[in-house]
Amino acid sequence: MTNFSDTLLQIKDRLILSDFIRKDVELTLKGREYVGNCPFHSEKTGSFFVSDEKCAFHCFGCGVSGDIFKYVMLRDGVTFPQAFKKLADLVGIELIENKSKQKNAGIYKVLEAATDFFEKNKSIVTEYMKKRELDDLTIYNTFHIGYAPNSNELYKYLINNGCKETDITKSGLFLEKYTNKFYPRFKERLIFPIYDRRNRVIAFGGRVVSNGEPKYLNSPETEIFLKHNTLYAYNIAYENVTDKKPFIVTEGYVDVITMHRYGFNTTVGTMGTALSTNHLAMLWKYSDEPIICMDGDDAGQKAMNRIARLALTALSPGKSLKFCLLPNSVDPDTFLKTEGANAMHSLLSRPISLSDFLWEEYLKELYKTDRTPEKTALWENKIFKDLETIPDNTIRRLYKSKIRSSIYNLNHSKSQRVIRKILNASAYKQLSVIERNAMCEYVLSYILVMRPALVSSMIEKLSYITFSNKSLRNFWNFIVESDDPSDVIASDKFSRVVEEIRTTGSKFYQINEQSDEELLNDWIFIFDKIVSRPAEKKEQEMASKEFAKSGSEKSWERLKALKMYSIQVQRGKNA
Ligand code: UTP
Ligand code: MN
Repeated sequence: MTNFSDTLLQIKDRLILSDFIRKDVELTLKGREYVGNCPFHSEKTGSFFVSDEKCAFHCFGCGVSGDIFKYVMLRDGVTFPQAFKKLADLVGIELIENKSKQKNAGIYKVLEAATDFFEKNKSIVTEYMKKRELDDLTIYNTFHIGYAPNSNELYKYLINNGCKETDITKSGLFLEKYTNKFYPRFKERLIFPIYDRRNRVIAFGGRVVSNGEPKYLNSPETEIFLKHNTLYAYNIAYENVTDKKPFIVTEGYVDVITMHRYGFNTTVGTMGTALSTNHLAMLWKYSDEPIICMDGDDAGQKAMNRIARLALTALSPGKSLKFCLLPNSVDPDTFLKTEGANAMHSLLSRPISLSDFLWEEYLKELYKTDRTPEKTALWENKIFKDLETIPDNTIRRLYKSKIRSSIYNLNHSKSQRVIRKILNASAYKQLSVIERNAMCEYVLSYILVMRPALVSSMIEKLSYITFSNKSLRNFWNFIVESDDPSDVIASDKFSRVVEEIRTTGSKFYQINEQSDEELLNDWIFIFDKIVSRPAEKKEQEMASKEFAKSGSEKSWERLKALKMYSIQVQRGKNA
């Protein structure tokens, strides 16, 4: 490949066409492409399409089309070499880079020769490779796995193959700290060559074949190997990526190879380093939603959490990540070998979206605290601070409103859970929402019927309850007006309704040895959460509807204030 076409590719790599064109034309996303009014003819209908995937634009109105170079030629009325120069300047590529390319050519040569050397030695580890199922021919031919023997032969081999000492020094293949300047870095290790996108070896990873530390050793960063720019097997995977087959990102070399062997040939590996924004850009170049599939252990979970937070800072319309969670302490390699390709297929076919994954991670954090209002507020603030890192206004707004409604639901379902604890959970679960409210009316009545002494302190609250059941309503109206609740409860007039209260109430609530105080606490809890405060509930309902409709900051603030008020009332009563 010539230096010229290298530079050409680099320019297309570094400039996102839609971002570039957006400086001149207002573009809106439509499906996978951007649309705007054509800058090359006069129109108001938006016939001008820009595709970042294809690195191309096309106008259905006047028929112009082309890549970024053509765009500059048309826009600025310049020749191709002039457009080329302009864009090269813009991305900071010096065209005289020719010289440095030639300089690096020596290093590439060293690494290519070393790859041959390692491959020639692989017969030493035939057994090991068989054991790890790395011995089939396609794997050899695709990944060029080799072996670094316990000798100093490599240096000689490189010199005999015409490599220069200066290039050998820069290759990262030898350790300098030893008196012998060319002491091999990799000894008695299985070798995984690491390629750049253009299929040139730029580094190696080496795994011990018996026991030893560290398990994996990588080349150091060199002039041609930058970890934040490199993903293992990217050179193979990107060509297999389609709309239906996104990139899959795993941790290990062997994971990648096994994935490819089982047909998941869009898999790349992070090689033990954290994913960078550069990596994300590499993935998003070909895949709208790459799937992150790390090991199912704590380290893997942590890595995914970091990736999720990093992704937030780089989201753009249409581009996101998905997450695939493997069972406990299993990596893709083990999973495939024990469960098979179909199991992996079904896992990958229902990955978790970035927003859902993040929410689950946030929840885990919340559940680690005792969820006091102060800690919950701290937690909430932290989330919204994270969401502030989303650069795109629209995505940020949508994320915020999604998380807000999750928090809303969380509060809601939390109260349901607590109520279930107070009440007979299995009986409660079978009721519809309306039945639940009716049941609560019975339970509230039941507690007071069983402990009439408590009625007087609840008189005020009782008058707030609009009982849906008519006989209950009559009964309580009578009590509220009367001087002695016990008399009413014992009277023949209400014996039937009292009986009903006893049977229904005891189905859902047990009264044993509870103190008056405990009973009152439960009573108030049920009263607050379910039956009472109709005005407040109505207000909340309206606010919630308004928020669902407009999603505006203001409607959220209103809803939050109402929610906070309920929680405070609740806490105050229980305190
Ligand atoms: P793992 O320890 O999960 O490796 O590390 P693995 O690929 O599952 O290993 P085996 O061969 O199946 O036992 C995942 C990746 O992290 C990097 C390597 O890139 C490895 O593939 N790593 C791991 C290191 O760089 N150094 C280490 O010491 C360990
Ligand atoms: Mn692993």
